[in-house]
Amino acid sequence: MTQELLTPDTPAGAVLVVDFGAQYAQLIARRVREADVYSEIVPHTMPAAEMLAKKPAAIILSGGPSSVYAAGAPVLEEAVVTAGVPVLGICYGFQAMSRALGGGVAQTGQREYGETTATVQVEDSVLFAGQPAQQVVWMSHGDAVDHAPQGCRVTASTPGAPVAAFEDRERRLFGVQWHPEVLHSAHGQAVLVNFLRDGAGIEPTWTSGNVVEQLVEDIRARVGEDRVICGLSGGVDSSVAAALVQRAVGKQLTCVFVDHGLLREGEAEQVEQDFVAATGVDLVVVDARERFLSALAGVSDPETKRKAIGREFIRVFEQAARDIVQAHDGQHGGDPDDHPVKWLVQGTLYPDVVESGGGAGTANIKSHHNVGGLPDDLQFQLIEPLRSLFKDEVRQVGLELGVPESIVWRQPFPGPGLGIRIVGEVTGERLEILRRADAIARAELTAAGLDRDIWQCPVVLLADVRSVGVQGDGRTYGHPIVLRPVSSEDAMTADWTRLPYDVLARISSRITNEVPDVNRVVLDVTSKPPGTIEWE
Ligand code: XMP
Repeated sequence: MTQELLTPDTPAGAVLVVDFGAQYAQLIARRVREADVYSEIVPHTMPAAEMLAKKPAAIILSGGPSSVYAAGAPVLEEAVVTAGVPVLGICYGFQAMSRALGGGVAQTGQREYGETTATVQVEDSVLFAGQPAQQVVWMSHGDAVDHAPQGCRVTASTPGAPVAAFEDRERRLFGVQWHPEVLHSAHGQAVLVNFLRDGAGIEPTWTSGNVVEQLVEDIRARVGEDRVICGLSGGVDSSVAAALVQRAVGKQLTCVFVDHGLLREGEAEQVEQDFVAATGVDLVVVDARERFLSALAGVSDPETKRKAIGREFIRVFEQAARDIVQAHDGQHGGDPDDHPVKWLVQGTLYPDVVESGGGAGTANIKSHHNVGGLPDDLQFQLIEPLRSLFKDEVRQVGLELGVPESIVWRQPFPGPGLGIRIVGEVTGERLEILRRADAIARAELTAAGLDRDIWQCPVVLLADVRSVGVQGDGRTYGHPIVLRPVSSEDAMTADWTRLPYDVLARISSRITNEVPDVNRVVLDVTSKPPGTIEWE
């Protein structure tokens, strides 16, 4: 497949977040966006000249895992801090900056880790103006700056770091030893905003309205008059990507929704009716429910199930794509004024781009998220309109475009759907049981106002397990349903959510009363690791 990228080179005026190798760079970039300023992550190995050629409005140096004295520790080129671009150094970046400017970093041999209290200079400082003089901050460092570079004033201290922040307003250089990007730092966002607005003089123009406008222009310029297809899954990313492309090129877009029968109650309708009504997209729905059920008959092993679902999905999607191309190109093929179906929309997000090895120049196809990925020989070029956005921005863009809230705020749901939430063979009857139990759990969580407190709550049918129960006058021999509510930031790790007992009680009693063949509801109290979020 030809991979073309929609995102142009970094626009001038971006804030560059230099990644020194810790896990904080993404978080910093997000916080900058939350302050309505566009940011991009660049690796610390990028030469200073290349960073400066991007004409950044400011540079933020992230934390990193190493001591500046460790062999092979990332080095900061002096040019980054002397080019006249406003700079904020954070943690490792603060120390690297201090050294580059001639300040001192001492190997204290002591670690300061976790929450501590910083005493900050409120009067006459840029970073701490308008904040309390004592504030809780989150630290994670061994070495410490022991004297600030010439021209820089010390503006904060903590018990473990006498020089915990400095600034030179003239040269627009700022640094903090702690992590303002983490929520444990009580005034962290205010520190970042003060840097961006007052330190660097950047206007807050990265708003969802502007983002939509800019992305729509980019798509139009790229696609021209060609035709585009997009696979819809009912999830947030593909829906918002489709809505954006629809806004940009209208009827040139055709969406394909494969109904594999493994969706939750109301989801197919959400796409077929609500989404179409809200966006006006041309939608082709392929009813492939029977086909998927046949492919899953007799299959209990989770990996075999996933493969079967992935395989069928690709076949159905390919066929639909061919049909669209044929219907269109066949009809208009000889017409010189007409345009071929040339583009395929993908809902790739910025974290996928960063995790797959970097921004510009790296194409990444979200195979995991597309039920096994699309085949290599699909003859389309890719448009990835969301590849510069974080998830929360995608949601904002979705709202801006009028995508229904029920889709915009959807929790993550695996591509293979309920197929992997039935432990055991998937049958039509079992899907029906699980769909009903899941609908009850979702309705009660929504009624209790808990949707945005939990990351997701898989509801699982243990189809291969039966146990004895008693209902009415009789003995039953039914299946258990597992509730798996989890709290998470990114699904890489998760904790089980402490749901209120009364909510759990309502879910349990409704499921056992209303869903035939289910006589127990159990709660999964395992974190990830060691458990995964899904059961499979
Ligand atoms: P696990 O079970 O690995 O899940 O802890 C991590 C996150 O990934 C989701 N998930 C999937 N999402 N296609 C997807 O789009 C898939 O095949 C898939 N499998 C798991 C899961 O719901 C959780 O959010």
